[in-house]
Amino acid sequence: MLVEINDLLQPAQLKKIDEILSKAEFVDGKLTAGKAASRVKNNEELKGEPQQMQLLIRILTSAMAHNPTFRSAVLPYRMADPIFARYQSGMTYGDHVDDPLMGLSGQRFRSDVSMTLFLRDPETYQGGELVVRTTFGEKQVKLKAGSAVIYPSSSLHHVAEVTQGERMVALAWMQSYVRDPAQRELLYELDLAREDLLTSAPEAESTGLVDKSYANLLRMWGDV
Ligand code: NI
Repeated sequence: MLVEINDLLQPAQLKKIDEILSKAEFVDGKLTAGKAASRVKNNEELKGEPQQMQLLIRILTSAMAHNPTFRSAVLPYRMADPIFARYQSGMTYGDHVDDPLMGLSGQRFRSDVSMTLFLRDPETYQGGELVVRTTFGEKQVKLKAGSAVIYPSSSLHHVAEVTQGERMVALAWMQSYVRDPAQRELLYELDLAREDLLTSAPEAESTGLVDKSYANLLRMWGDV
């Protein structure tokens, strides 16, 4: 399941991030890539001062934590510090699958869900689509600044070559309370129906049953 999250960042948050990134130093992305990924990875990553990084991470994590779609679709349990990546003209990231285990030793976690948060409007650069292989074929995603897409970390994906302008994104990886993508999808859709019923028919018996089913499926499938 790919889920687009519109306006994950508020304009003021986007502006602040832009401000910090415009003054920051970027280094070759191969430095953080594993063996398999470094063969296909051609981008740059932010090497921020610890203070800048803390501020960026705080803005991002707070936006994610407050977004109902993100919370419901990801069911986030643990998260690595996000990465900021820049693609100049000619840069690309070939087909790869994200690392299964992330984080520093002692705080290792499994990546279940990947997120790409777009930080530039699509008309400001050519190419740079995120292309995810799904069972229904390839899905291309290029969203407006401040919007994000989440997808299972297990999926093969690549970033199409940027042919003009500059692509800037933030990337995050989460361990979910629910490991299985099919179970997460089911819970997400059931949660949408539940939210709708809680608004339109809060007193109905069927609303109570759907609400109870959601809670108990999450209890059945959730790991902590
Ligand atoms: Ni990736």
